[in-house]
Amino acid sequence: MHLNRGMSPSSLAVIVLAAGQGTRMKSRTPKVLHSLAGVPLIGHVLATAEALDPDVLVVVTRHEADAIEEVVAELSPDAQCVRQDAIPGTGRAVEVALGSIPHNVESVVVLSADVPLLDSDTLLAVIHHHSAEGAAVTLLSAVVDEPTGYGRVVRSESGAVSAIVEEADADADTRDIAEINSGTYVFSRTALADALPTLGVDNAQGEKYLTDVIAQQVASGGGVQAVIVDDEWLVEGVNDRIQLSEVQRRLNRMIVRGWQKDGVSIPEPESVWIDLSVQLSPDVTVFPGVQLHGGCVIGEGATLGPDCTLTDTEVGAGASVIRTVASEAEVHEGAQVGPFAYLRPGTVVETDGKVGTFVETKNSTIHRGAKVPHLSYIGDAEIGEGANIGAGTITANYDGIKKHRTVVGAHARTGSDNVFVAPVQIGDGAYTAAGTVVRRDVPPGALAVTAASVRNIDGWVEKNRPGTPSSEASASAHQEPPEQ
Ligand code: UD1
Ligand code: CA
Repeated sequence: MHLNRGMSPSSLAVIVLAAGQGTRMKSRTPKVLHSLAGVPLIGHVLATAEALDPDVLVVVTRHEADAIEEVVAELSPDAQCVRQDAIPGTGRAVEVALGSIPHNVESVVVLSADVPLLDSDTLLAVIHHHSAEGAAVTLLSAVVDEPTGYGRVVRSESGAVSAIVEEADADADTRDIAEINSGTYVFSRTALADALPTLGVDNAQGEKYLTDVIAQQVASGGGVQAVIVDDEWLVEGVNDRIQLSEVQRRLNRMIVRGWQKDGVSIPEPESVWIDLSVQLSPDVTVFPGVQLHGGCVIGEGATLGPDCTLTDTEVGAGASVIRTVASEAEVHEGAQVGPFAYLRPGTVVETDGKVGTFVETKNSTIHRGAKVPHLSYIGDAEIGEGANIGAGTITANYDGIKKHRTVVGAHARTGSDNVFVAPVQIGDGAYTAAGTVVRRDVPPGALAVTAASVRNIDGWVEKNRPGTPSSEASASAHQEPPEQ
């Protein structure tokens, strides 16, 4: 944005409408904050608005204004938020916003925060058409299969636009019109400023409709233009959860195709969800059932899935992550994770390391080449380079008040079914026996053992469990002739 570049005569303002209640979503979350590919709906529209490089960007809020303004401040710090008053309707929203737009602004683009897929190239073409025609208002419309819910573009016999009629105010003939208003417009600022105060709220919804500016301009001789967009997805509005899911699927398909074109193998695209912010590299394979959220960065040749949900996780080149849930974790080059692993925040699996089946990790580094292959909980730990952790190992990291660290040295080999009672250190190259509860530090190269030796009471089963299959099996084992 060039807020300070000085207003040229052709300067541009963009108004983003986000004050509506979004009733049809039936949600505690404001409609425009629902997520689409990891970005709130309004974030997509703000990005498009900023791509137009406007002199002024105004966002109109009212319902859940604080929550929406916080998101706007984060995503578009240069945008100005203004609050709509008690008079409802898109017309009133624009009227309120106009108060923040300098008089030397010539053109005003109005965008709806609930129309997220519209791109700036399409808008630039509309702005260009508007200027070339010297129009008072140019609206963006589309001819759609399912116009229900949208305002219809009514044209006279000559084909010129004469009005927009809202669904709620439309008769049967008007409802049959397939050309819909996208809710996106370019206005001459003066035409808008003249028209809005003349509009009333005498309609089915008792609102001041921005759409009434069209008929008003036709009546007063202002030029009204419509640009019909070819791809109706560009103007798809999100009013309920069904439309939200359709738009989500559409954008996801575009994102997935984009990565396929960039050299990522995604054999079953419909089952894979990738947020806009995710970065993938060539020759990555994403198997079915994978969701990649937030700041995931995936290195060349890595294999993900089937069935992974990764959030803000880095996966290095050639690594493999199978049936895993991970967030805020790092999996370095050549490392292997899963199947059925759960990497919680702060997990780092270094190069060629392994976190295997039914293993949960948190705030731990599995150093280069170290392995935690089976059935373990590793929390607040360092597992040294090349060390191997036995199956069924638990770091007892929490004493009920504080968390403590476990440090396992390089090339240590710990036995199955160990408990490491933190804080504790197992030295470089040390061993621990199966079933050991490690309560004290183990020096480098030592073997730690806690288990008492096993005592066998001969004949116990036949004496105490007579007649059971165990007893019979025992008896016949005793009768077998000794091996030759
Ligand atoms: C609106 C248009 C309709 C068009 C459709 C396209 C009007 C009267 N109707 O209908 O012709 O086909 O968009 O998607 O404009 N808003 C405010 N203040 C309000 C009311 C709404 O800022 O008082 C905002 C909403 O937050 C939303 C946008 O304006 O971002 C559109 O409002 P919505 O209620 O969804 O209008 P539609 O019924 O979809
Ligand atoms: Ca809408």
